[in-house]
Amino acid sequence: MELDVHALKENLFEDLNHRWMLISATDGEHANSMTAGWGGMGVMWERDVFFIMVRPCRYTYEILEKTDTVTLSFFGDGYRKELTYLGRNSGRDEDKLALCGLTPVIEGKDVYFKEAKTVLSGRIIAKMDLKSEHLVDETLERCYPQKDYHRIYVCEFVRGFEQ
Ligand SMILES: Cc1cc2nc3c(=O)[nH]c(=O)nc-3n(C[C@H](O)[C@H](O)[C@H](O)COP(=O)(O)O)c2cc1C
Repeated sequence: MELDVHALKENLFEDLNHRWMLISATDGEHANSMTAGWGGMGVMWERDVFFIMVRPCRYTYEILEKTDTVTLSFFGDGYRKELTYLGRNSGRDEDKLALCGLTPVIEGKDVYFKEAKTVLSGRIIAKMDLKSEHLVDETLERCYPQKDYHRIYVCEFVRGFEQ
């Protein structure tokens, strides 16, 4: 069922720290997904957007640098094992989509999962590299012991659906 972004009844990002989501993308040749616990949705530059934070060491980062399209997949209960796998292993080392135990769907530039409850697809419209000096609250540095500051991708909402 197609989803009107304004009609999203629950806040998908509420409790994301505990429920997690999958960020997926393809560069046309390779597709990959990784688990994410940080991100949000809102309005920027008068557009409906979602944003995600990806560290440069992720294989997903490499793919995101070669595409303009990202999907977010949100799941109901019962997929902890699959999301843990996708959040602990790298697509650089193995074909995670084949091994994760979920059913990947590739539709044009969108990669998502058949088991997802809600899927959002967006077009990357801005990228921002977080730097140490941007962390006004210096205690946030504890998230970066290796100084691998995130790249923040802001994506304009293109379509969403519930399955
Ligand atoms: C619960 C959870 C949340 C995560 N959130 C993020 C995140 O928001 N950003 C990020 O860069 N990595 C995050 N990760 C780590 C990546 O999912 C993990 O490094 C993954 O193996 C990267 O896969 P890739 O190399 O195939 O892209 C998270 C991992 C877990 C388990």
